[in-house]
Amino acid sequence: MFAKINSLGLLGLNSFAVTVEVEASKGLPAFDIVGLADASVRESRERIRSALRSSGLKFPTSKVMINLAPADVKKSGSVYDLAIAVALLRVSGLVEDSVLESAAFIGEVSLGGEIRAVNGVLPMAINAQRSGLGAVYVPADNVREASVVEGLEVYGVSSLGELAEHFMGRKQITAAEKYVPSPESYFGTLDFADVKGQAAAKKALEVAAAGGHNALMIGSPGSGKSMLSKRMPTIMPAMTFEESIETTNIHSVAGLIDKNEPLVTARPFRSPHHTVSSAGLAGGGSVPKPGEISLAHNGILFLDELAEFARPALEILRQPLEDQKVTISRVAGSITYPCSFMLIAAMNPCPCGYYGHPTRKCICTPKQVAGYLSKVSGPLLDRFDIHLEVAPVEFADLSSAQKEEASSAIRERVQQARDIQNRRFKGTGITCNARMTSDILHDACPMTDDATDMLSKVFDKLGLSARAYDKILKVARTVADMDKSDIIEKKHIALAVQYRSLDRKYWSG
Ligand SMILES: Nc1ncnc2c1ncn2[C@@H]1O[C@H](COP(=O)(O)OP(=O)(O)OP(=O)(O)O)[C@@H](O)[C@H]1O
Ligand SMILES: [Mg+2]
Repeated sequence: MFAKINSLGLLGLNSFAVTVEVEASKGLPAFDIVGLADASVRESRERIRSALRSSGLKFPTSKVMINLAPADVKKSGSVYDLAIAVALLRVSGLVEDSVLESAAFIGEVSLGGEIRAVNGVLPMAINAQRSGLGAVYVPADNVREASVVEGLEVYGVSSLGELAEHFMGRKQITAAEKYVPSPESYFGTLDFADVKGQAAAKKALEVAAAGGHNALMIGSPGSGKSMLSKRMPTIMPAMTFEESIETTNIHSVAGLIDKNEPLVTARPFRSPHHTVSSAGLAGGGSVPKPGEISLAHNGILFLDELAEFARPALEILRQPLEDQKVTISRVAGSITYPCSFMLIAAMNPCPCGYYGHPTRKCICTPKQVAGYLSKVSGPLLDRFDIHLEVAPVEFADLSSAQKEEASSAIRERVQQARDIQNRRFKGTGITCNARMTSDILHDACPMTDDATDMLSKVFDKLGLSARAYDKILKVARTVADMDKSDIIEKKHIALAVQYRSLDRKYWSG
């Protein structure tokens, strides 16, 4: 007897088809698994043997050989358990080939016969649908996640016994209903209205959100940098469905999916502690998992106390910030994860925190200040489009009873600016002004004569790098979009230049 059962494997975000081939022949009872399976897969033999017994199902008495094809791709983990168990049910004659042909099986089997959730179900289900399979059987806890995929019947299985009953037609498992995320998607309880005064800082963060620009905040302790940053997600534009799927795929591989609300619908906001390792940021492990930068894909990576991060961890950000993807190399092969994120960072200007403070005296020596600031390298600093000095809150603002503008109002303006950008970049794959490539920069940024004039003067006077020039233009584009102006005017350039002037105050030595 020979049969085939479809299953799926995962390497990084890429799912590949795996066929579980089973051959049963006369001979001494035996159960072997071949096909470049590592120790974790071979262990499934014992789990499945015990699971069948606990479920009251017969273990085949023939000589059973399982092959995981293709045999040249390394298989690891417990995700093939369910397909292998189904292969044994097939040997016992509990299921017909006609049922198996168009279905795939993924899931881990426990000793007691329960089917346990696995990571990466969404990318695997998407692959099943693309390769023309009509149905997928997944662990019950993953059923909502898989049911996001259009055009695929999804069956949630909670135990091997239940699956056997289903195959024998005694008690059918019904296909899951399509999961639709609840409309009141999460924006959190924080609100910009909590932040008194700080109009300039709020405006700068609004520009950052509107154009997807990286922003660095610098200021003395208690000036509200952390408070402002934490409220960034509340003014970010809504995610498109495609973005939501991309982000959910990454969270799924990392095992961070909520089984009841499996689709990531709010832009991620990741704020790793400054003790995070390079691997924690960029991704790593023997089977590389996505790091913080990939978990922040389509959202925000917030680095609070930027100067406290280890220098190597910060430097590792440079290439992914440019390429919007990160490649992790391992013996098993290299894995690429997308990481298109907005970087928001906050820091003090010196160890005591009061360098440049309008009233309090800084007690650091110039050498200490320089040493502190030098933890952020020039190239990294250059990658922030917006540098922002957060001044201490004024007493008048703090004590004022006046209501501040709510996040929802700011978000509406941000969304309008994004709508303009979506129209501008339609069909180019570019998502926002910050991601403009240099070839389209010129066409997308027409300037008035005095704007051009101002920019050329600033370029010479400040000795800007080519990257800084591009960044000023991109930020000015966003400021003009917020003004609903097609052409970039002098005042738009002026604001963009102002957002690049802090590095000279603090980093010019
Ligand atoms: N503009 C403001 N409106 C209302 N409360 C504020 C404002 N700024 C600061 N605060 C209060 O001060 C506290 C400290 O602010 P926050 O933690 O954001 O400062 P910080 O700039 O991050 O300081 P540090 O450099 O020490 O990290 C806030 O939790 C908040 O209670
Ligand atoms: Mg802080």
